[in-house]
Amino acid sequence: MASIYIHVPFCKKKCLYCDFYSIGTSNKISQYPLLIEKELSLRKSFIKNEPIDTIYFGGGTPSLIGSSQINHILDCIAKTYTISVDAEITIEANPDDISAELLQGYRLSGVNRISIGIQSFIDDELRFLGRRHNAQAAEQSVNLAQKNGFENISIDLIYGLPNSSSDSWGYSLNKAFSLNIKHLSCYHLTYEEGTVFGRRLKGKKIQEVDESISTQQFDLLRELSKKNGFIHYEISNLAMEGYLSRHNCAYWQGIPYLGLGPAAHSYNGLVREWNPNSYNEWEQGIQSENTVLQSEVLDERTKFNEKLLTHLRTIWGVKISDLQNEFREVLVNQMLFCAKPLLKTGRLTLINGYLSVPPEHFFTSDGTIGNLILVED
Ligand SMILES: C[S@@+](CC[C@H](N)C(=O)[O-])C[C@H]1O[C@@H](n2cnc3c(N)ncnc32)[C@H](O)[C@@H]1O
Ligand code: SF4
Repeated sequence: MASIYIHVPFCKKKCLYCDFYSIGTSNKISQYPLLIEKELSLRKSFIKNEPIDTIYFGGGTPSLIGSSQINHILDCIAKTYTISVDAEITIEANPDDISAELLQGYRLSGVNRISIGIQSFIDDELRFLGRRHNAQAAEQSVNLAQKNGFENISIDLIYGLPNSSSDSWGYSLNKAFSLNIKHLSCYHLTYEEGTVFGRRLKGKKIQEVDESISTQQFDLLRELSKKNGFIHYEISNLAMEGYLSRHNCAYWQGIPYLGLGPAAHSYNGLVREWNPNSYNEWEQGIQSENTVLQSEVLDERTKFNEKLLTHLRTIWGVKISDLQNEFREVLVNQMLFCAKPLLKTGRLTLINGYLSVPPEHFFTSDGTIGNLILVED
């Protein structure tokens, strides 16, 4: 099994908080699918010819790409590999790009899952974030996706906004659950260097939300998601039974994936490769048939740490016997030694051979996992 990620690096307008790689819209959009086609033919052997189980169009803003272009890319993938009959094919979409025609086109191309970047159902918050849509458009986009053949709908929300409260967060969450969505990704606002918000925070023009409010909002997320039948399966991801993102799960399980497009990462079990964070460099590499990729062969310690980091962010945790089969005993023992005090306080549990962070402690799991990461022999 393998996965494919396609990074669509265009945004009409940069949101104030976002540091995902993207450039503005231009005539580059029309030639982009042809470049992806060429990149695929140049890099196809990076993953073995095994069935493609998940395909993910992420961004940037994939919904700026028309359905015939998405269809073209999917056709190229189908000619290169075998796509599983029940493959999960996801596209990220911005609410204000969505139309009935676009959605129907995506469905006809084989896209069967849509992830809509709502962020909030409150107009003031959307303005603050620099989004292009308002709360009404957010709600309408979900309805429109449902009317036009999408059943498997995910939405993104951001919490921990300055001046937000349990009430405001509860409002957005309740609205989300009322729309009969199947999957929810909730991210705490982070202030990234190089973004407008990053600069405003440094210049003290924005104040971070109080930690106690962040914690209350996280607890509310757990409470309301439980009430609405959602499984909190990873720090930022929740879903109804049967709707967990197979693409995300594949990443966490270390399944090989090929990433196409500028800034996309790839992994084949041994090597990690990444495309430049520059459209022009990426394009020149493809045109000259000499792709400019950086790569890293993962050593044992890095692989061990990555496995811990990805698995401990999920409800399944990490199976100790898997670690023992894959890595030297000394590494596993060193990690288990560091885990002891955290097991005592309940921040970690060891049940039936699985080490995990209980979901109620997901919010502080980065700190917990940080204590287990191996730095030297
Ligand atoms: C690739 S981005 C956006 C996809 C799509 N272009 C959109 O804006 O709707 C995926 C998600 O990451 C989240 N995100 C991006 N930057 C963030 C930040 N600094 N803090 C918290 N969440 C962030 C947002 O929820 C966003 O929808
Ligand atoms: S959040 Fe989405 S639309 Fe906004 S800048 Fe980031 S990728 Fe672009």
